[in-house]
Amino acid sequence: MNDLKKIPLHVAMIMDGNGRWAAAKGKDRVEGHIEGVRSIRVITEEAVKYGIRYVSFFAFSEENWARPEGEVSALMNLMLKSVQEEVETLVRNNVRFKAIGNRERLPLPLQTAIGDLEKMTEFNTALTMSVFLSYSGKWDISQAALKMAAAGDDDLEKYLSTRGMPDPDLIIRTSGEQRISNFLLWQAAYSEFVFTDTLWPDFREDGFRAALEEYAGRDRRYGKVNY
Ligand code: IPE
Ligand code: IPE
Ligand code: MG
Repeated sequence: MNDLKKIPLHVAMIMDGNGRWAAAKGKDRVEGHIEGVRSIRVITEEAVKYGIRYVSFFAFSEENWARPEGEVSALMNLMLKSVQEEVETLVRNNVRFKAIGNRERLPLPLQTAIGDLEKMTEFNTALTMSVFLSYSGKWDISQAALKMAAAGDDDLEKYLSTRGMPDPDLIIRTSGEQRISNFLLWQAAYSEFVFTDTLWPDFREDGFRAALEEYAGRDRRYGKVNY
Protein backbone atom coordinates (compact mmCIF):
# COMPACT_ATOMS: atom_id res chain seq x y z
CA MET A 1 0.00 0.00 0.00
CA ASN A 2 2.49 2.55 1.15
CA ASP A 3 5.21 1.81 -1.37
CA LEU A 4 4.17 4.77 -3.53
CA LYS A 5 6.59 7.70 -3.71
CA LYS A 6 3.89 10.20 -2.82
CA ILE A 7 0.26 9.93 -1.83
CA PRO A 8 -2.19 12.71 -2.61
CA LEU A 9 -3.86 14.39 0.36
CA HIS A 10 -7.11 14.86 -1.57
CA VAL A 11 -8.40 12.77 -4.49
CA ALA A 12 -11.54 13.88 -6.32
CA MET A 13 -13.42 11.69 -8.78
CA ILE A 14 -15.77 12.43 -11.66
CA MET A 15 -17.67 9.15 -11.64
CA ASP A 16 -18.75 8.76 -15.24
CA GLY A 17 -19.94 5.85 -17.36
CA ASN A 18 -22.66 4.19 -15.26
CA GLY A 19 -25.17 4.38 -18.11
CA ARG A 20 -22.77 2.95 -20.70
CA TRP A 21 -21.79 0.16 -18.31
CA ALA A 22 -25.46 -0.82 -18.00
CA ALA A 23 -26.15 -0.46 -21.74
CA ALA A 24 -23.22 -2.75 -22.59
CA LYS A 25 -24.81 -5.41 -20.41
CA GLY A 26 -28.31 -4.86 -21.77
CA LYS A 27 -29.43 -3.51 -18.40
CA ASP A 28 -31.32 -0.42 -17.32
CA ARG A 29 -29.19 2.69 -16.62
CA VAL A 30 -30.23 2.53 -12.96
CA GLU A 31 -28.42 -0.83 -12.64
CA GLY A 32 -25.25 1.04 -13.60
CA HIS A 33 -25.83 3.58 -10.84
CA ILE A 34 -26.38 0.78 -8.31
CA GLU A 35 -23.09 -0.89 -9.29
CA GLY A 36 -21.47 2.58 -9.20
CA VAL A 37 -22.38 2.93 -5.53
CA ARG A 38 -20.39 -0.27 -4.85
CA SER A 39 -17.36 1.38 -6.47
CA ILE A 40 -17.75 4.35 -4.12
CA ARG A 41 -17.63 1.98 -1.16
CA VAL A 42 -14.56 0.13 -2.47
CA ILE A 43 -12.65 3.33 -3.29
CA THR A 44 -13.46 4.88 0.09
CA GLU A 45 -12.09 1.83 1.92
CA GLU A 46 -9.01 1.80 -0.33
CA ALA A 47 -8.43 5.50 0.35
CA VAL A 48 -8.37 4.81 4.11
CA LYS A 49 -5.77 2.06 3.55
CA TYR A 50 -3.55 4.38 1.49
CA GLY A 51 -3.72 7.08 4.16
CA ILE A 52 -5.45 9.56 1.84
CA ARG A 53 -7.22 12.19 3.97
CA TYR A 54 -9.91 13.52 1.61
CA VAL A 55 -11.91 11.83 -1.13
CA SER A 56 -14.53 13.64 -3.13
CA PHE A 57 -17.11 12.04 -5.41
CA PHE A 58 -19.03 13.98 -8.05
CA ALA A 59 -22.34 12.14 -7.85
CA PHE A 60 -24.90 14.52 -9.37
CA SER A 61 -24.35 17.80 -11.17
CA GLU A 62 -26.69 20.76 -11.34
CA GLU A 63 -27.00 19.93 -15.06
CA ASN A 64 -28.04 16.35 -14.28
CA TRP A 65 -31.46 17.68 -13.16
CA ALA A 66 -32.23 17.92 -16.88
CA ARG A 67 -32.13 14.12 -17.28
CA PRO A 68 -35.39 12.17 -17.70
CA GLU A 69 -37.55 12.41 -14.59
CA GLY A 70 -37.48 8.65 -14.04
CA GLU A 71 -33.68 8.55 -13.91
CA VAL A 72 -33.49 11.60 -11.63
CA SER A 73 -35.94 10.13 -9.13
CA ALA A 74 -34.24 6.72 -9.26
CA LEU A 75 -30.93 8.44 -8.50
CA MET A 76 -32.43 10.41 -5.60
CA ASN A 77 -33.92 7.21 -4.13
CA LEU A 78 -30.66 5.35 -4.57
CA MET A 79 -28.75 8.13 -2.83
CA LEU A 80 -31.22 8.13 0.06
CA LYS A 81 -30.92 4.37 0.44
CA SER A 82 -27.10 4.50 0.24
CA VAL A 83 -26.81 7.30 2.78
CA GLN A 84 -29.00 5.32 5.17
CA GLU A 85 -27.08 2.08 4.62
CA GLU A 86 -23.54 3.44 4.72
CA VAL A 87 -23.51 4.59 8.37
CA GLU A 88 -21.97 1.37 9.63
CA THR A 89 -19.14 1.22 7.04
CA LEU A 90 -18.28 4.87 7.63
CA VAL A 91 -18.21 4.52 11.41
CA ARG A 92 -16.13 1.32 11.19
CA ASN A 93 -13.59 3.05 8.98
CA ASN A 94 -13.54 6.31 10.99
CA VAL A 95 -14.78 8.27 7.94
CA ARG A 96 -16.41 11.68 8.12
CA PHE A 97 -19.20 12.28 5.60
CA LYS A 98 -20.05 15.58 3.94
CA ALA A 99 -22.52 16.49 1.23
CA ILE A 100 -21.63 19.50 -0.90
CA GLY A 101 -23.79 21.35 -3.42
CA ASN A 102 -27.05 23.18 -3.78
CA ARG A 103 -28.72 21.04 -1.15
CA GLU A 104 -32.01 22.91 -1.14
CA ARG A 105 -32.83 21.36 -4.50
CA LEU A 106 -32.64 17.83 -3.10
CA PRO A 107 -35.78 16.00 -1.92
CA LEU A 108 -36.46 16.71 1.77
CA PRO A 109 -35.95 13.13 3.03
CA LEU A 110 -32.52 13.11 1.37
CA GLN A 111 -31.64 16.50 2.89
CA THR A 112 -32.57 15.12 6.32
CA ALA A 113 -30.66 11.85 5.83
CA ILE A 114 -27.44 13.59 4.74
CA GLY A 115 -27.72 16.04 7.62
CA ASP A 116 -28.07 13.10 10.02
CA LEU A 117 -25.10 11.23 8.50
CA GLU A 118 -22.95 14.36 8.72
CA LYS A 119 -23.81 14.68 12.41
CA MET A 120 -23.19 11.00 13.14
CA THR A 121 -19.73 11.10 11.55
CA GLU A 122 -18.60 14.61 12.39
CA PHE A 123 -15.88 13.52 14.82
CA ASN A 124 -14.39 10.82 12.55
CA THR A 125 -10.83 11.62 11.61
CA ALA A 126 -9.26 9.05 9.25
CA LEU A 127 -10.80 10.37 6.05
CA THR A 128 -13.27 13.01 4.95
CA MET A 129 -15.57 11.74 2.23
CA SER A 130 -17.44 14.45 0.35
CA VAL A 131 -20.27 13.63 -1.99
CA PHE A 132 -21.10 16.39 -4.43
CA LEU A 133 -24.85 16.51 -5.01
CA SER A 134 -26.59 19.09 -7.17
CA TYR A 135 -23.17 20.68 -7.47
CA SER A 136 -21.86 23.10 -10.08
CA GLY A 137 -18.47 24.77 -10.01
CA LYS A 138 -19.94 27.97 -11.46
CA TRP A 139 -22.72 27.94 -8.84
CA ASP A 140 -20.10 27.51 -6.11
CA ILE A 141 -18.07 30.51 -7.28
CA SER A 142 -21.13 32.75 -7.66
CA GLN A 143 -22.66 31.87 -4.31
CA ALA A 144 -19.25 32.50 -2.72
CA ALA A 145 -18.93 35.87 -4.49
CA LEU A 146 -22.35 36.96 -3.21
CA LYS A 147 -21.52 36.00 0.39
CA MET A 148 -18.10 37.62 0.17
CA ALA A 149 -19.58 40.89 -1.15
CA ALA A 150 -22.26 40.90 1.55
CA ALA A 151 -19.53 40.50 4.18
CA GLY A 152 -17.41 43.24 2.61
CA ASP A 153 -14.57 40.72 2.42
CA ASP A 154 -12.05 39.90 -0.34
CA ASP A 155 -11.11 36.28 0.39
CA LEU A 156 -13.33 34.19 -1.90
CA GLU A 157 -11.99 30.83 -0.71
CA LYS A 158 -13.60 31.38 2.69
CA TYR A 159 -17.04 31.29 1.10
CA LEU A 160 -16.67 28.34 -1.27
CA SER A 161 -18.66 25.26 -0.34
CA THR A 162 -15.36 23.40 0.06
CA ARG A 163 -13.93 25.80 2.66
CA GLY A 164 -11.61 24.15 5.14
CA MET A 165 -10.71 21.42 2.68
CA PRO A 166 -7.45 21.37 0.72
CA ASP A 167 -7.77 21.66 -3.07
CA PRO A 168 -7.73 18.28 -4.85
CA ASP A 169 -4.23 17.08 -5.68
CA LEU A 170 -5.60 14.52 -8.10
CA ILE A 171 -8.80 14.48 -10.13
CA ILE A 172 -9.72 11.17 -11.75
CA ARG A 173 -12.35 10.94 -14.48
CA THR A 174 -13.56 7.57 -15.67
CA SER A 175 -15.26 6.49 -18.93
CA GLY A 176 -12.87 8.04 -21.43
CA GLU A 177 -14.32 11.56 -21.38
CA GLN A 178 -11.71 14.27 -20.95
CA ARG A 179 -13.54 17.25 -19.54
CA ILE A 180 -14.35 18.80 -16.16
CA SER A 181 -18.15 19.08 -16.65
CA ASN A 182 -18.53 21.96 -14.18
CA PHE A 183 -16.90 20.17 -11.23
CA LEU A 184 -14.37 21.97 -8.99
CA LEU A 185 -13.56 24.91 -11.29
CA TRP A 186 -11.79 27.12 -8.77
CA GLN A 187 -10.32 24.32 -6.68
CA ALA A 188 -8.84 22.48 -9.71
CA ALA A 189 -6.39 25.32 -10.44
CA TYR A 190 -3.35 23.09 -9.84
CA SER A 191 -4.86 19.61 -9.72
CA GLU A 192 -3.27 16.74 -11.61
CA PHE A 193 -5.71 14.93 -13.92
CA VAL A 194 -5.90 11.23 -14.66
CA PHE A 195 -8.32 10.06 -17.33
CA THR A 196 -9.15 6.40 -17.68
CA ASP A 197 -11.33 4.51 -20.15
CA THR A 198 -12.66 2.27 -17.36
CA LEU A 199 -16.35 2.86 -16.69
CA TRP A 200 -17.11 3.93 -13.11
CA PRO A 201 -18.87 0.67 -12.04
CA ASP A 202 -15.70 -1.21 -13.08
CA PHE A 203 -13.37 1.25 -11.33
CA ARG A 204 -12.09 -0.66 -8.30
CA GLU A 205 -8.81 -1.39 -6.44
CA ASP A 206 -6.61 -1.86 -9.54
CA GLY A 207 -7.82 1.22 -11.40
CA PHE A 208 -7.43 3.34 -8.28
CA ARG A 209 -3.91 2.04 -7.72
CA ALA A 210 -2.97 2.76 -11.35
CA ALA A 211 -4.21 6.35 -10.98
CA LEU A 212 -2.21 6.78 -7.76
CA GLU A 213 0.89 5.40 -9.48
CA GLU A 214 0.46 7.85 -12.33
CA TYR A 215 0.08 10.69 -9.82
CA ALA A 216 3.21 9.60 -7.95
CA GLY A 217 5.21 10.00 -11.17
CA ARG A 218 3.99 13.54 -11.88
CA ASP A 219 6.15 16.59 -11.35
CA ARG A 220 4.09 19.41 -9.85
CA ARG A 221 5.60 22.81 -10.43
CA TYR A 222 2.92 25.39 -9.57
CA GLY A 223 4.40 27.78 -12.11
CA LYS A 224 7.87 27.54 -10.63
CA VAL A 225 11.12 25.97 -11.81
CA ASN A 226 11.95 22.73 -10.02
CA TYR A 227 15.64 22.27 -10.77
C1 IPE B 1 -22.32 8.98 -14.11
O1 IPE B 1 -22.74 8.07 -15.08
C2 IPE B 1 -23.36 9.21 -13.03
C3 IPE B 1 -24.06 10.49 -13.11
C4 IPE B 1 -23.73 11.51 -13.84
C5 IPE B 1 -25.24 10.64 -12.27
P1 IPE B 1 -23.64 8.50 -16.29
O2 IPE B 1 -25.07 8.34 -15.89
O3 IPE B 1 -23.29 9.87 -16.76
O4 IPE B 1 -23.25 7.42 -17.37
P2 IPE B 1 -23.00 7.65 -18.91
O5 IPE B 1 -22.06 8.79 -19.08
O6 IPE B 1 -24.34 7.94 -19.52
O7 IPE B 1 -22.43 6.36 -19.38
C1 IPE C 1 -20.39 14.46 -14.95
O1 IPE C 1 -20.93 13.43 -15.71
C2 IPE C 1 -21.19 14.65 -13.70
C3 IPE C 1 -21.06 13.59 -12.71
C4 IPE C 1 -20.23 12.60 -12.75
C5 IPE C 1 -21.96 13.70 -11.59
P1 IPE C 1 -21.95 13.74 -16.89
O2 IPE C 1 -22.22 12.45 -17.55
O3 IPE C 1 -23.11 14.50 -16.38
O4 IPE C 1 -21.07 14.71 -17.81
P2 IPE C 1 -21.15 15.07 -19.35
O5 IPE C 1 -22.56 15.44 -19.64
O6 IPE C 1 -20.73 13.86 -20.12
O7 IPE C 1 -20.19 16.20 -19.53
MG1 MG D 1 -21.98 10.58 -18.13
